[in-house]
Amino acid sequence: MLDSPSRVVVTGAAGFIGSHLCERLLADGHQVAGVDSLSDYYERERKYENLEVARAHANFTLEESDMVETDLARVVRGASVVFHLAGQPGVRPSWGSHFDRYVHDNIVATQRLLEALREVPVQRLVFASSSSVYGNAEMFPTKETALPRPVSPYGMTKLAAEHLAFVYMRNFGIPATSIRYFTVYGPRQRPDMAFHRFMEALVDEQEIEIYGDGEQTREFTYVSDAVDGTVKAASADVVGQIVNLGGGSRVTVNRVLDTLEDISRMKPRRRYLPAAPGDPRHTGASINVAREKLEWEPRVSLRDGLTKQWEWFLATSAKRPRVTPT
Ligand SMILES: NC(=O)c1ccc[n+]([C@@H]2O[C@H](COP(=O)([O-])OP(=O)(O)OC[C@H]3O[C@@H](n4cnc5c(N)ncnc54)[C@H](O)[C@@H]3O)[C@@H](O)[C@H]2O)c1
Repeated sequence: MLDSPSRVVVTGAAGFIGSHLCERLLADGHQVAGVDSLSDYYERERKYENLEVARAHANFTLEESDMVETDLARVVRGASVVFHLAGQPGVRPSWGSHFDRYVHDNIVATQRLLEALREVPVQRLVFASSSSVYGNAEMFPTKETALPRPVSPYGMTKLAAEHLAFVYMRNFGIPATSIRYFTVYGPRQRPDMAFHRFMEALVDEQEIEIYGDGEQTREFTYVSDAVDGTVKAASADVVGQIVNLGGGSRVTVNRVLDTLEDISRMKPRRRYLPAAPGDPRHTGASINVAREKLEWEPRVSLRDGLTKQWEWFLATSAKRPRVTPT
């Protein structure tokens, strides 16, 4: 499907993962139409910076609009593949009245896209779902067939969007695939995510705040690996299927901090806070489906990936004011 140069759409193009995906698709010779509302969940300035490389490319366009408001049929016309990454991420802020935004950006925006795809068919829709749909899984590594039981409102909205995509597939033949990312990290990581916050605290010589006892485990996935799996999901025989994209190993948050100390040669003070509601104790991906169906394998080790993020952080942090997202 993406063997030859094509026109593709990337929603959430200005975000952390979306901007890396755009660069990869442009490098592969495709014409990339990005859509992004440049939501203010974190500074819009960062999102413009995320797109610096893509915007300099002649084959890139950006439509700055909310997917719920814009004419998506016009946006997707002529595209072979739509990568749907736009959404409101973040587990911890998804309670209370913020929930409305999760419904809007994760569920309603997805439904509007699916309606547009009824009108203007494409060859593949790749939806960026999340390990958060599993909640506290019963088995590790967790297979795609595990019963999803989210423990956060965020995870619930991602699961709802996954189901919506398959509802439209069953009724209208939309060729949808869901990929479930497991904690993605690397340069441009969102400022609310743990590694980014840890690095910010290190540079500012502040205490590092950890939710819980730090013995919770996560499957961390380097962004170029996540992007590679995403691109492969557009061409592989996975319509109607769910594919986990995990970095290959489960690590405790305390171990990550040990590695970061080693890389940065700094010894941060750690402050342990109560575990946050909605955070699962562990996540861990079975990646056999991705291996078999996508011929995909994560390539970047946690140490190498963390080093790259640290170098990026040092190179870019000095020029930026600190803003804590709500
Ligand atoms: N980063 C991770 O570890 C991770 C893990 C699992 C799943 N995901 C999913 O991957 C996707 C990308 O995550 P990210 O970390 O790059 O987040 P991000 O916030 O950096 O990117 C999401 C982008 O979507 C845009 N957006 C939100 N609502 C929109 C709307 N209604 N219309 C148009 N654009 C809209 C935002 O402005 C933002 O630029 C999200 O859907 C997220 O749920 C991410």
